[in-house]
This record gives sequence, structure tokens and C-alpha cells, in this order.
Amino acid sequence: MRIELGIILLLSILFVKPIAGNSVIDDAVDILKLIHEISVGIETVWKLIENEPVDTSKLPLVLDKHGQVMRRLDELNERIQQSEKLQAEYFNMTITSLKREFFEEFLLTRKLTEVGDVKKVIEENSQYMTFDQNSTVKFDAYTLNNFAEWCVKPGSNSLGYLIDAFHGNIFGDPEDNVENSLFAQMVAKYEMDESQICAARRSPLQFAYDLFTKVTLTELKAYLMMEFSWITLRSTGKGNFTLEMSLMRRKHEERIWHSKEVLSKLVSRIGRVYWRCDPMTYQSKLGVTYDRVTRLLQGYVENEMNLNKKGSCLQTCEDYSDARIEGCVKDELCSKQPKCAGRLHSCQFIGADMTVCQSNSTNNSSRRYDYIRTNNGRLLGVDAKEDEAVCRTGGDQAESSTYWFWRCNYCFCLCDEEGLLSDRYFNLRDTLSDYQRNMVVTGARFVKARRVFHLQLQQGELLPGGLINQSSLAWIPLEVYNVSHVDIRQGYDYHKLSYNSRSMDLDEIAVESNTQVVTGARFHVVDNHLNLEVRFSTFNFSTGRLIRPDSDSVWLGNDWTRQHYDQPRQKLILYDPQVSTKSSLKSLPLSKGNQYMEFVSSSIDKDAAQSTVPFIDMQDVVPNPAVPLSGLGIYHKGRRGFGGFFAPKVVTYNIWEKPLAH
Ligand SMILES: *[C@@H]1O[C@H](CO)[C@@H](O)[C@H](O)[C@H]1NC(C)=O
Ligand SMILES: *[C@@H]1O[C@H](CO)[C@@H](O)[C@H](O)[C@H]1NC(C)=O
Ligand SMILES: *[C@@H]1O[C@H](CO)[C@@H](O)[C@H](O)[C@H]1NC(C)=O
Ligand SMILES: *[C@@H]1O[C@H](CO)[C@@H](O)[C@H](O)[C@H]1NC(C)=O
Ligand SMILES: *[C@@H]1O[C@H](CO)[C@@H](O)[C@H](O)[C@H]1NC(C)=O
Ligand SMILES: *[C@@H]1O[C@H](CO)[C@@H](O)[C@H](O)[C@H]1NC(C)=O
Ligand SMILES: *[C@@H]1O[C@H](CO)[C@@H](O)[C@H](O)[C@H]1NC(C)=O
Ligand SMILES: *[C@@H]1O[C@H](CO)[C@@H](O)[C@H](O)[C@H]1NC(C)=O
Ligand SMILES: *[C@@H]1O[C@H](CO)[C@@H](O)[C@H](O)[C@H]1NC(C)=O
Repeated sequence: MRIELGIILLLSILFVKPIAGNSVIDDAVDILKLIHEISVGIETVWKLIENEPVDTSKLPLVLDKHGQVMRRLDELNERIQQSEKLQAEYFNMTITSLKREFFEEFLLTRKLTEVGDVKKVIEENSQYMTFDQNSTVKFDAYTLNNFAEWCVKPGSNSLGYLIDAFHGNIFGDPEDNVENSLFAQMVAKYEMDESQICAARRSPLQFAYDLFTKVTLTELKAYLMMEFSWITLRSTGKGNFTLEMSLMRRKHEERIWHSKEVLSKLVSRIGRVYWRCDPMTYQSKLGVTYDRVTRLLQGYVENEMNLNKKGSCLQTCEDYSDARIEGCVKDELCSKQPKCAGRLHSCQFIGADMTVCQSNSTNNSSRRYDYIRTNNGRLLGVDAKEDEAVCRTGGDQAESSTYWFWRCNYCFCLCDEEGLLSDRYFNLRDTLSDYQRNMVVTGARFVKARRVFHLQLQQGELLPGGLINQSSLAWIPLEVYNVSHVDIRQGYDYHKLSYNSRSMDLDEIAVESNTQVVTGARFHVVDNHLNLEVRFSTFNFSTGRLIRPDSDSVWLGNDWTRQHYDQPRQKLILYDPQVSTKSSLKSLPLSKGNQYMEFVSSSIDKDAAQSTVPFIDMQDVVPNPAVPLSGLGIYHKGRRGFGGFFAPKVVTYNIWEKPLAH
């Protein structure tokens, strides 16, 4: 009794349970806890029967006179089934789906087939375990006996043998290098294949844990079947099987120990980052899955004589790198198009005469031009062949001319014009989780609200054991404001992009520590760059409570840590970028930490420089199920030749290191 009490106490310290009926298991499948529960449960069963003498005079199962043994086994079986169900809900990973995904690998497939066969045999046979002796579906003693013998008899067809083979196929032999195990190979493949990360919506680390759970559930089930079988056989009076049972139990413990060992050896190098893939093309929608900065630097056609105060044409287009419009000669293009009210940059000569096809301004387009066709055959801004381009608004001529001795050329410049059509603001205010209510950050997404981009965070309640209460998940409400309001200040509330300040730092701000999780994030401006900072708070793993989150939290960023004194930030350059959404291939992450990228105008040839790229990905970045985060980052994803997207990524908390260390 003392010992039992001791074990229960010890367990309740290791795995503090919330009030019964409100179990953490409702929210996450915690396999390590289940392993403990099963082994403790079986120990209890063992205690019940251990000292019962085997009485051959009694009929099958009368040993269990109070139904106690079977009731307990039944409870354990229920727990395994319940976990299996939950696991399937969280992550519907079947051997068939895995085989489909790894189809090209012969060895993997063969092993998976074997694994699948064993799993099937176990599923099919587990129905013979009938615990309720009052049940109407009662197998007769003969069937039960056969089943029990199949489970435990020595030989290469028995369950005992199969489950050993199953385990060996997946985790390899204890002497082997863990990297060669099917388990390690599957995780490695998952990590390399972005389409799988897209489909499963979880970081490679989460995938590894799920695979581990799946396999362990099968092993636990087989173990329970064998335990059941010995008890059944014992109750038929064929022997007390004390030795056999303890041998089986030891083998089970060795298997579990070995699989934990494999997982913990791999855990440290399995990727923890979860990023969001592009949506299917048909789901991609402006304002829903992505949004964009508008009219930051936009292609604009203007005659040289309007670019200087004297109305002269003494220079070349290229001489105007920072100009403004100083006049407008009647009946020229300038009188037919909305004037660029800001500054013009990077002017260049693209052809003496051209037809400018203006966009329909009533159509809310952020474009000025649909396309431009020069007389020397250049067509800027349409993919179609030249003769297919039809201008719905008619088209305006822009013809260079000669005044006196001077040639007044039309130039193609980039217009930096603030105004109602130019969305170029980024929120600088802190976003904090409701840490007073023990909420931590579980996900992130960009949102555009009243023309301001916000990095919105999702929060969830932190529970014991590094789990998140999935039903408490909610997006932290945005603090929406109007940038034109007198009390709203640039540099404090928001940052306004401009020609001189339009870079996004690309960083991953994460901690290695297992006692810290993310509780907030913000942008600030460092050297004219938007720079991400992340707030970390300490928590107690066993109670799940944040520790003094008010005073003991820290803001970390790749600016403050100054790890890169000798490694200046590297600039990523987009060459001649096509509009981001025109890529037929799904984006891939193209940046790593300590880099930055400027917002630039799209390709002159492909888009008449009418768009601002990269676009901003607006999809939720929340792994499934939600977990606490060890970090947040901003990265660039896309394809060569396209503008791509800025998007947030999350670093999932490594739950398993802690309990595995025991
Ligand atoms: C898992 O997927 C299979 C086939 O894809 C489907 O039949 C099954 O209902 C799914 N199970 C759950 C729990 O979603
Ligand atoms: C089986 O039925 C008997 C009598 O109806 C009852 O006392 C007993 O508790 C039942 N056992 C189980 C496991 O339900
Ligand atoms: C089990 O059986 C063996 C011999 O068959 C006997 O030596 C042993 O004492 C028995 N153990 C119990 C707990 O009954
Ligand atoms: C207006 O915009 C819609 C959607 O972008 C486009 O299909 C339509 O052709 C545009 N109309 C004109 C007149 O440009
Ligand atoms: C243009 O945008 C305004 C404000 O966003 C909206 O009210 C209006 O319906 C839009 N018009 C069209 C044609 O899309
Ligand atoms: C511009 O777009 C509006 C609304 O889409 C449409 O009613 C109008 O006819 C268009 N104008 C031209 C010149 O195409
Ligand atoms: C999870 O959150 C829901 C909603 O906030 C709450 O009702 C429930 O009690 C929480 N469960 C636990 C285990 O804290
Ligand atoms: C923002 O404030 C300006 C000036 O106060 C006002 O004209 C404008 O309508 C406001 N915009 C929104 C979307 O509320
Ligand atoms: C976590 O909380 C438990 C229970 O309050 C306490 O015993 C333990 O010392 C705490 N651990 C840390 C690291 O603070």
C-alpha cells in the first residue's frame, strides 16, 4: 500500500493532472503519460492476481471473481482507444497515407507494408479481448483460448514475435545507428518535402512526435493483448505463468525504452520551424490569403521638360534620380493622367514614343497603367503577345518631341507617392498575450487594417506539461487606428515606408531554453529597417504557470543580441520580379536569418513596375494542434523571377526533451 501510494504521488508530481474529468488528454494526446498510466495500471492488475493461487477446479475467468482484473484491463484498453481516436483527429496519419507519400522509396515502402500488416493483425484480433463478462458478445472459451495462445505462444506467428518485428522495423536494433531506422528516415523525408509540411500543417518535430505516438499506441495495444492473454490462460488453470509474464513485461519495457531513446537522440536536430505554404491557386485571394503594399514605387511616364523647374530638356532621363514634377504642358500625357504628387526616382529612357494604357481608375486598382507599348516594339506589363493587348481605356500617346535644338524625351520613372491609394504602414505597437490569464502566443499572421499592416498573434492558455488548451485559442484583438488621426504618430504607432526606408529584416528570433515561451512581438525600426522583436516569458513546466511574466520577461531581437558584429546583415535582391501571384509553382522559403530585403517595384518589362513586391502572406501560421512557441520569425518565400511574399513563421516548443530526460 505504501509503495503504491508512493508511485501515485511520484506520478502526480511528474504529471500534474488538472481536476479529473477535465483532463489534459482532452486537449492533446500525451503518449508519454499514457505509457506511464498503462504500466502503472498493469502493475495494479498484477498485484491483484499475483497472490491468487491458481485453482484448476474453477472454470475460465472465475479467478476474476469481482470483475476487478478485467475491469482494470478494460479501463486501460479504453484509454488506448481513446488516445488513438484523438490522435487520428489531430493527425490523420495512416500507414496507407504514409506509403503513398513515400512511394518512391522501395525500402521504406516494404518496411511500411510489413508494419501495416502487423498493425492490421493487431486491430483485427483485439476484438477478442472481452472484458465485460456480462457482455452479450461473448466469445466462448475455445475462441478465447485460441486467441490467448496465439498472442503469447512462442513462434514466428505469435503476437509477441510480430510486435518485436514491428518495433525493429521502425526503430531498428538498439545496436544500430538511429539514423538508419525507418523512423529517422521518415522524419528526414518529411523535413525535406515541403508538400508534406503543407498537407500536415506541423513542424518536423511535431511530425516525429506523432509518428512516435502512432507506433507506441500500437505497441501498447499489443502489450495489453498479451497481458490479457496470460491472465486468460492462467485462469484456465494451465499454469501461473509468472516467469513468462515478467519476461514479456521486460521485453515491453525494453522496447519502450529503446523507442524513447531513438526519439530523444533525434529530437535535438529535428527542425522545429513551422511555416505556411501557399494556398491552392483557386483559394488565393487578395485581402484574404495575401495583401500588398501599394504605390510605394510605381512606374510612371513623364516628359523630361516637366521634371525640372526651367522646363528644359538639357539632360537625359537617367540624370533624374530624385526629382519632382514641376510643370505640365497642355495636351501632353501629363494632363491626361493623375499626377504623381510625390518624388520620382530612377528615371530611364525606354523609347521615344509610346502608347500608355491607363488602368480604369474607378476600378479601385492600385495600378496606374495596364501596360505601355513603345514604338520600338517593347511591351511593358502584359504577358500576352503584342497584338493581343487591347486597351480598355483607349490608350494615350506619349511622343517625344524636338524643341529648338533639344530633344524632349519621355522618361519612365518610379513614383513614390503617399496618399489614400498608397498602403505603406506597419504597426509598431507591442502585441502581448494576456499573460495575467496565463495565455501564451501560439500563432501569427499578417493583417491589413485601415491600411496598416499588423502582425497579429494568436494566444492560448498554457497548461501543465507544455500543453495548450486548444479550446482557449483566440486571436489577440488588433488595436486598429487611423494613421491620419492627430494622436497617432509615425515612428511610435506605425512606420511609414518610403524610398529611403523600405527594408524588412528577415530573422528567426528563438530561444533554446525549454523554460521560455513567446508572449509577445513587435516591430521596431533599426537603421531604417523594420525589425522584429519577440517577448519571452519563463514558465514552470510542471504547473504550466508563467513565472512573474510582468517583471521577468525579455524582448529579444537580432539587433539587440548583437551576435553578428562581424557578420553584417546580408541583402537579398529580387531581380526583375514578376508579380508574386503569377507563379504557377508554390513558394519555397528563400531566406535565412540575418538577412534583409527591400520592398521594390515589380519588373518593368513584366509589369510596367506597377506593383510593390514582395507581397504579404496573410494566412494563419498556427501548427495543428497549437503548441507553445520557442520563437517567431519573418522570412521571404517565393520562386526565382517572382516577387514572393513576406510571411511569419513559428518555432514550435520542444515539449519532449523535458519528460524524455527522465
Ligand atoms: C482519416 O482519413 C481517412 C481517409 O483519408 C478517412 O476515411 C477517415 O475518416 C479520417 N479519420 C478521421 C478521424 O478524420
Ligand atoms: C454483471 O452482472 C452482475 C449481475 O447482474 C453484476 O452484479 C455485475 O456487477 C456485472 N458485472 C459487470 C462487469 O458489469
Ligand atoms: C507458479 O508456479 C511455479 C511452478 O509451476 C511455482 O514454483 C510458483 O511458486 C508459482 N508462483 C505463484 C505466485 O503461485
Ligand atoms: C476591374 O477589375 C477586375 C478585377 O480585377 C477586372 O476583371 C476588370 O477587367 C477590371 N475592369 C477594367 C475596366 O479594367
Ligand atoms: C473600391 O473601394 C472602396 C473602398 O475600399 C469600396 O467601397 C468600393 O466598393 C470599391 N469599388 C469597386 C468597384 O471595387
Ligand atoms: C471602369 O470600370 C467601371 C467599373 O468597373 C465601369 O463601369 C466602367 O465602364 C469602366 N470604364 C472603362 C472606360 O472601361
Ligand atoms: C480550456 O479553455 C476553455 C475555454 O477557455 C475552458 O472552459 C476550459 O476550462 C479550459 N480547460 C482547461 C483544462 O483548462
Ligand atoms: C481617418 O482620419 C481622417 C482625418 O481625421 C478622416 O478623414 C478619414 O475618413 C479617417 N479614415 C477612416 C478610415 O476612418
Ligand atoms: C514548479 O512548481 C512546483 C510546484 O509549485 C515547484 O515545486 C517547483 O519547484 C517549480 N519549479 C520551478 C523550476 O520553479
